[in-house]
Amino acid sequence: MTELHLWLRHEIRTTERRTPVVPSDARRLVGAGVTLTVEESPQRVFPAEAYEAAGCQVVPAGSWTGAPADTVVVGLKELPDAPDGPGESPGEAAMLRHRHIFFGHAYKAQPGARALLRRFAAGGGTLFDLEYLVDEDGRRLTAFGYWAGYLGAALAVLHHRGRLTAPLRPLSKKELDDALHPAPGDERFASLVIGALGRSGRGARAALAEAGLEPTCWDLPETRALDRPALLAHELMVNTVLTTGPSTPFLTDKDLAEPDRRLRTVCDVTCDVGSPYNVLPVYDTVTDWADPVRRLHARPALDLIAIDNLPSLLPEEASTDFSAALTPLLLEFGVGGEWGRCLDRFTEACRELGARDEGLGDA
Ligand SMILES: NC(=O)c1ccc[n+]([C@@H]2O[C@H](COP(=O)([O-])OP(=O)(O)OC[C@H]3O[C@@H](n4cnc5c(N)ncnc54)[C@H](O)[C@@H]3O)[C@@H](O)[C@H]2O)c1
Repeated sequence: MTELHLWLRHEIRTTERRTPVVPSDARRLVGAGVTLTVEESPQRVFPAEAYEAAGCQVVPAGSWTGAPADTVVVGLKELPDAPDGPGESPGEAAMLRHRHIFFGHAYKAQPGARALLRRFAAGGGTLFDLEYLVDEDGRRLTAFGYWAGYLGAALAVLHHRGRLTAPLRPLSKKELDDALHPAPGDERFASLVIGALGRSGRGARAALAEAGLEPTCWDLPETRALDRPALLAHELMVNTVLTTGPSTPFLTDKDLAEPDRRLRTVCDVTCDVGSPYNVLPVYDTVTDWADPVRRLHARPALDLIAIDNLPSLLPEEASTDFSAALTPLLLEFGVGGEWGRCLDRFTEACRELGARDEGLGDA
């Protein structure tokens, strides 16, 4: 490994305690010759001292903006906003000059997607979006899905049983499982996982099993001709699909008003709100740790949980798994075919946008 300089940035969301690289993997990277700079981050689940002990240089939070041009900035979630310049063009401070690795949520016409790509185009930087770090068959190589599904299903069950207390806070798996185990007198109810064969789906099934439930499991074959009455006959549903194109919505406003509906609790792990590919177009804002549940319909009641940073509630387990998958890929940064595919997807997104926005041009 030659002269790779990675910069692990602080996450700006105050609830984000995860990190894409844990200290034990930081040690592995440093041992392989990578320079790893780590920003201080008050809420990260691992303290800065653990990275320092692993041979990393520790710097103040947010200092990546002044990092050398050849640095690769590594994070998980959104970058801090920066003011626009004259007109709609990104201002000096908004321009992104570095290579960045994080979840950009910028290729499915999500809110803010265009603005983010414009920031990269203006600064000449590159986004290596972790969602598009895939193998030759298009399968994701790094993902938090399992723990997202686990948490989503767990919160849905706790709410359905009247045991969810807000605000939510990060916890250990043992604490979560202790709350999830059925108490004497708890009734079984019909639950459904859609996207059951995926990472999140597997996590959701594991959590439901922990809660003493045996969910119905649907994946692509079962939703091709959607059996709406069957779906609405479940009391609890966890949506964990990964959509890459338009598909039939699983719930519509008409289903919410359906008087015979037994469905009472929905957890949308997918959280594609705002995207044209959203399979649950019955709500327009995600929920959060302070207010995890929103009533979508009064009679019959339907409650929604749609939290887009679920794995952050189990930050240690989620970070450790993710880091184990990402670290070998970081050791191949710029060489492995997965990074080339990731770059191609960014270039394509910029080009698509450029076709609609003359100000952007190709990246
Ligand atoms: N809320 C959160 O905090 C959070 C965290 C991580 C991931 N996610 C999201 O969860 C989603 C799932 O991620 P994953 O890693 O489990 O993906 P995955 O690719 O491992 O699994 C997705 C599954 O959905 C199935 N599927 C796709 N379209 C379907 C349809 N129309 N009907 C039925 N099944 C369908 C696929 O066959 C696959 O089995 C993604 O959108 C991801 O962005 C959310």
